[in-house]
Amino acid sequence: MNLDLSNKKVIITGGSTGIGKEVVTLFAKNGAKVAIFDVNDTEGIELTNQLNKDGHEIRYWHVDVRDSNQVSGGVMAAEQWLEGVDILINLAGILQGASINIEEFPDEVWDSVVGINLTGSYLMVKHVSNYMIKQKKGVIILTSSGAGVLGGSSSYAYGSSKGGVHGLSLVMMDKLSQYGIRVHDILPGSVDTPLKNSQIETTRDITGNQDEYKNVKKILVNPEGIAKIIYFMCSDEAGLLKGSIRTE
Ligand SMILES: NC(=O)c1ccc[n+]([C@@H]2O[C@H](COP(=O)([O-])OP(=O)(O)OC[C@H]3O[C@@H](n4cnc5c(N)ncnc54)[C@H](O)[C@@H]3O)[C@@H](O)[C@H]2O)c1
Repeated sequence: MNLDLSNKKVIITGGSTGIGKEVVTLFAKNGAKVAIFDVNDTEGIELTNQLNKDGHEIRYWHVDVRDSNQVSGGVMAAEQWLEGVDILINLAGILQGASINIEEFPDEVWDSVVGINLTGSYLMVKHVSNYMIKQKKGVIILTSSGAGVLGGSSSYAYGSSKGGVHGLSLVMMDKLSQYGIRVHDILPGSVDTPLKNSQIETTRDITGNQDEYKNVKKILVNPEGIAKIIYFMCSDEAGLLKGSIRTE
């Protein structure tokens, strides 16, 4: 089976580090044209320059996904450069407020986490759908989490935001299929990225539980493996796929 995504026009949010960086690299190396939206300009531009130097077609935009104007402007500019949008992969996200009790939970942390993870997902799909509906095709991947669907989140805000992203994906997959747009959410487990490492270190520092930290650290999986699953989900060969995908 040949999973050919060459010449696909792809927008990837959160592409500067972690899972997003691996997804950008995998898609670029397989001939896709990739627009990265992120706020970590240093790492995003470094990745972009490196991949372009190797002969791939990548461009970086500073887009804070919480900001409606930045998202609409970024999507318009990327769509022009890409000459269409076949695939949106929404990976931008933050995890804050780990192991903080509900009665002490800072409202500003709630606002940031829900703003980036949930409102950011909504704004991205809103503006990209506008193009996909006109062209009557597309694939949208949102990133939820077991934390928001299965329970057990370390943060009230993070678990809630990811539950919201899951709900958004359910509404969208129902409403957008009539336009030939396939929508999924992926629920990664525990992946070795800056976000996850920062969360388990914070939890260790608050609880003092070294054993739990070591146990979780041991089971973290490589982000490259998640990138391969996303690559398959976006391919035409996954055309019959429905709903959510869980990973380790
Ligand atoms: N690592 C895990 O174990 C795990 C598990 C489940 C879900 N996830 C989700 O996977 C996604 C990727 O996370 P990761 O683990 O690779 O972490 P990461 O921190 O390496 O990547 C997140 C990216 O999002 C970017 N970002 C943050 N705020 C932004 C904003 N306002 N606008 C645009 N970009 C912004 C960051 O700069 C970073 O490049 C996130 O949505 C995360 O919640 C991760």
